[in-house]
Amino acid sequence: MRIKVPASRQLQFIQDYVWHKKHYLCNTGVYRDGLLICLLLSKVRQALQLQLQQSLIWFANLNKNQALINLSAFSKTMSLSKTIIGKDPSLKALLRNLQRVAATEATVLITGETGTGKELIAQAILKNSPRSQQAFITLNCAALPESLIESELFGYSKGAFTGANVAKKGILAAVDGGTLFFDEINSLSLAIQVKLLRFIETGEYLPVGAVKTLKANVRIIAATNTDLEKQVSAGQFRQDLYFRLSVVPLVLNPLRERKEDVQLLLEHFFSYFAQKYTVRTPVISTEVLDVLHQYSWPGNIRELRNLCENLTVRRIRRAIEVADLPREYLKQEQESLRFIKLPKTGLDWPKLEACVIEQALKKTNGKCQEASLLLGMSRDALYYRTKRAAVL
Ligand SMILES: Nc1ncnc2c1ncn2[C@@H]1O[C@H](COP(=O)(O)OP(=O)(O)OP(=O)(O)O)[C@@H](O)[C@H]1O
Ligand SMILES: [Mg+2]
Repeated sequence: MRIKVPASRQLQFIQDYVWHKKHYLCNTGVYRDGLLICLLLSKVRQALQLQLQQSLIWFANLNKNQALINLSAFSKTMSLSKTIIGKDPSLKALLRNLQRVAATEATVLITGETGTGKELIAQAILKNSPRSQQAFITLNCAALPESLIESELFGYSKGAFTGANVAKKGILAAVDGGTLFFDEINSLSLAIQVKLLRFIETGEYLPVGAVKTLKANVRIIAATNTDLEKQVSAGQFRQDLYFRLSVVPLVLNPLRERKEDVQLLLEHFFSYFAQKYTVRTPVISTEVLDVLHQYSWPGNIRELRNLCENLTVRRIRRAIEVADLPREYLKQEQESLRFIKLPKTGLDWPKLEACVIEQALKKTNGKCQEASLLLGMSRDALYYRTKRAAVL
């Protein structure tokens, strides 16, 4: 059942459906006007039900603007395929380690460039941990201002600040017994870092404006796409907290350093999206694979996933050719031309031109339009040059 819920009724709605009628929400999204759109499913596995309910307790406590932040991360988590693909030795070693680490209570620090799969790994730890049936909350430290992080994380007592008309429990209370994932932990201010360190060391925390400390039993997983050691040296991140967090450091290498995974990931995402959009799985030529192997993937696996979705949705034809790739993929290959060295003896330019044109026509099965795109020239220019080359 697909429903729309206006902002004013969202809390009531969650209480009615999620807590009492035991449905759960998926494909959740919030539009600018605050309308909550979601798919309501019933008869879900109880474990999932429990996890969602506990995450939603936190959601229900938030006001409308904060809920926007939480819900987008939440729906993202729910909608993606959770399979970890890759045979690169570094990833395999990480996954072997992950199995062992997940079973413990140890704090984990996941490091890697954007899109390398830090959140996916955090979810895999949760899935394999004894706390898998307990609450799991993701706190994106970069998405909330410092003042809000403190009150959301630790909660506050009545009268702690203007507008605090009632006491509110924080995320630590909501996730007690479960796992808390600090995403982009590098963005935490130094003031919050001190408080978090105290919590990690003692299991105790002080809600804003309160005089009595509270206790919570929370497993912490943190992720960062920056070099935390450098931030420590620059005085931007506390060294003691860094040591506390990196009890088990897991490092995800960028995709450009695990080239052998490119093809596997392409196959995985092409079949995933073909299934999703009920179309035939696209195939790629060896030339396309070459280009994608050479590419530097600044957005890592997220970028590759988006490219697969783009190519599947556009459905140019079943076999994808180099000319079908977005421009930036070709631009990088062109930049590599700068590294071509002119032989000391010089070269025969017309012959070189003829040779390149021949290659382009071969690659595109003689299709002039596509060959001209590959060569970065107009069809007319290609026609003229082809004729000229033939005369040589
Ligand atoms: N090894 C993998 N196999 C399959 N999918 C993967 C893999 N790694 C990442 N992904 C997918 O790539 C996308 C980005 O992953 P994720 O959100 O975990 O990255 P991230 O490191 O947390 O990025 P950011 O730093 O930007 O938050 C997701 O769709 C995720 O499912
Ligand atoms: Mg992430």
